Amino acid sequence: MRTLRDIDQLRSTLQEYRQRGQRIALVPTMGNLHAGHLALVACARQHADIVVSSLFVNPMQFGPGEDLDGYPRTFDADQAQLVEAGCDVLFAPAVSSLYPNGLDAQTRVHVPVVGEGLCGGSRPGHFDGVSTVVSMLFNLVQPDIACFGEKDYQQLAVIRKLVRDLHMPIEIIGVPIVRAEDGLALSSRNGYLSSEERAIAPALYRTLCMLRDALEHGAPIEEALDQGKAALSEAGFTPDYLELRDASLAPVSPTTRHAVLLAAAQLGPARLIDNVTIQLPASTVTAFSK
Ligand code: PAF
Repeated sequence: MRTLRDIDQLRSTLQEYRQRGQRIALVPTMGNLHAGHLALVACARQHADIVVSSLFVNPMQFGPGEDLDGYPRTFDADQAQLVEAGCDVLFAPAVSSLYPNGLDAQTRVHVPVVGEGLCGGSRPGHFDGVSTVVSMLFNLVQPDIACFGEKDYQQLAVIRKLVRDLHMPIEIIGVPIVRAEDGLALSSRNGYLSSEERAIAPALYRTLCMLRDALEHGAPIEEALDQGKAALSEAGFTPDYLELRDASLAPVSPTTRHAVLLAAAQLGPARLIDNVTIQLPASTVTAFSK
């Protein structure tokens, strides 16, 4: 695996692969890799000849008071895991390479509507930061495909829209959530949890599963969501949002069948997010819309 920090080196290296007609896949990451990231790399391997992974803790997507400074930086272990996973190129630029004029002077990419509400509501500017850095990485790497985790469901929807709206010839692949044995979705932020909090954390997914069962059996949506929030609070979380949307993140309507239940909740120092997809029976949304 080649580890590159320099933009010109990245461009010339990838140009060689492209000239040989090789398909390139990109896996963008912020490092502190776990099995969820390695599933992205495995997916990229299946779809392309060359796998490029980026490792960049993107300051633009962190709000004031968020965990930019404390975000776990584990470069050597990440590099070793990427070699093991069969990654070909690791691109790990410095902040000053991607943002040479600082964040304030930086052109930003804004994806409307789908980036609003949910995490976009609680973390103003977050998806502009994600869309800007991902656009930059897409321009630098010019991948044929790029893989993103479904845990960040809204992020995936924002990136799909970005690519469509800007006519980027890149196939976006969503990769299923990887969970610990007790159901907790893997996340770099799980490392912030104390052992007591880690024992509570799987209740987020358990609550989503409980609501999925209820909603698939026709429970009224608002009642189910209220119960879910109460269950999260009782378990020790501070719920941020618990919302049912259609699969494209638009509000559910009487015709919605494929829905997604999304949650974000604070547990001690960690803001955890998760989601499950739901097949709504015909009666549920009618009941909700009355
Ligand atoms: O999902 C992440 O780790 C980040 O938001 C991403 C896509 C690498 C952009 O910084």
